[in-house]
Amino acid sequence: MDELKRTKIINLLESDEFGKTIKVMGWVRTRRVSKNVAFIAMNDGSTIKNMQIVVDFETVEEELIQRIHSGAALEVVGELIESPGSGQKVEVKALEIKILGEADPDEYPLQPKKHSLEFLREKAHLRFRTNTFSAIFRIRHAMIFAVHKFFNDRGFFNIHTPIITASDAEGAGEMFRVTTLDLKNLPFNEEGDIDYKKDFFGRETNLTVSGQLEAELAALALSEVYTFGPTFRAENSNTSRHLAEFWMIEPEAAFYDINDDMDLAEDMLKYLIKYALDNCADDLEFLGRRLADEEKNKKQEERSGMELREKLNFVLENDFARITYTEAFDILRNSKPNKKKRFQYLINEWGADLQSEHERYLVEKHFKKPVIVTDYPKVIKAFYMKLNDDDKTVRAMDILFPQIGEIVGGSQREENYDKLVKRMNEMNVTEKEMWWYLETRKFGSVPHSGFGLGFERFVQFITGMGNIRDVIPFPRTPQNAEF
Ligand code: 4AD
Ligand code: MG
Repeated sequence: MDELKRTKIINLLESDEFGKTIKVMGWVRTRRVSKNVAFIAMNDGSTIKNMQIVVDFETVEEELIQRIHSGAALEVVGELIESPGSGQKVEVKALEIKILGEADPDEYPLQPKKHSLEFLREKAHLRFRTNTFSAIFRIRHAMIFAVHKFFNDRGFFNIHTPIITASDAEGAGEMFRVTTLDLKNLPFNEEGDIDYKKDFFGRETNLTVSGQLEAELAALALSEVYTFGPTFRAENSNTSRHLAEFWMIEPEAAFYDINDDMDLAEDMLKYLIKYALDNCADDLEFLGRRLADEEKNKKQEERSGMELREKLNFVLENDFARITYTEAFDILRNSKPNKKKRFQYLINEWGADLQSEHERYLVEKHFKKPVIVTDYPKVIKAFYMKLNDDDKTVRAMDILFPQIGEIVGGSQREENYDKLVKRMNEMNVTEKEMWWYLETRKFGSVPHSGFGLGFERFVQFITGMGNIRDVIPFPRTPQNAEF
């Protein structure tokens, strides 16, 4: 006889081949014994739903059943039967159980009860086995897939931009150095500086903060491209929205102006939200209930007042507000929390950067929908953004989302060689090292635009998770690189 192949729980739950002998494998969530039967809830990660395994003491030895605890891995051969209970359509009547891996109940950290997210962060190697985290990581996968689908369907080409670079794309100096030099025995040059000529690449290198600059080079030939890669920032901010290692989606498109850029970003965000609603229903429902529970424990003013699905639909159905920085500045300066000095950073002078409290005020209190802010003061934005005729503002656009604040940052790019050189000099970006970037403005330069979506911030929005550390499998934050 052919060996019986394993069927995934997601497929079994949809099957109505009652009486068929099947094989299922997975991890025990709970085991409950009553009289001469045991009920095992088993999960294999293919869906948030468990398979109920019914074990008769006459078929399976009691001694073996006693060794089955939460966390153990099992192989079960059994009969697929119609479930008499409500909840699910099918269950499995065990004929044979093999314990693939035991889990000692005195040592296994995950109990069949609710654990705090903080506790689970310390058990990141096991937290995949909880409903919450398996749901998050299935949704995260669906969103990665949908990003590629969105761009592929529109004729954008995916470009792998380098992870090790010699440039600082954002000019903010928040980079992790990459070196093979012996830190205890550094080579020095005649000027007494570290001699990077002796380093692996013969120059100073770091992990990239953005794939944008290289994506621009590709866009100026392939017209529409995007990168989706890991980026690294050594900013020492311990917030619920910052990671030292995060993933960014960066489309870059030739012949796009700032308005085309905003349209693309809004379309993409809505496409991804719709994709999640259409394809991740079970997981969203679970996370929605989780969020509703959590909201109950919050203070009235901190509650969002909307259910997860409602929140997603709301963003889907409404046009984003589009305002300039100057308009945002006026709204904020005249706002109640500013006048009553309730903002931590008061808005007084034009030119101040918007903090997350201001971004959230605009979105959650003033417009009550996502907001795109354009035309920021040049002094608070990167060197590559196109200068407006007023010589004071640049053609930037940031998209602000509820609870999160900035989720997208982008701009039309400066395509004029002389203006770009001037901006680079003003902002201390070394011309000599960026010769390749500048050359694209010498040969066949065209208007072009792009943006970056912080993928984890977006997954936070979709899943309703309050802390960015809970939407990436192994978060990297200051003082933390365990696992
Ligand atoms: O606004 P940022 O710095 O823009 C860029 O990097 C541009 N090169 C993008 C482009 O035009 N191609 O970052 C873009 C987005 C932010 O809006 C935010 O969502 C996310 O990346 N982000 C972070 N996410 C998590 N942790 C951090 N430390 C982040 N810093 C930025
Ligand atoms: Mg930004």
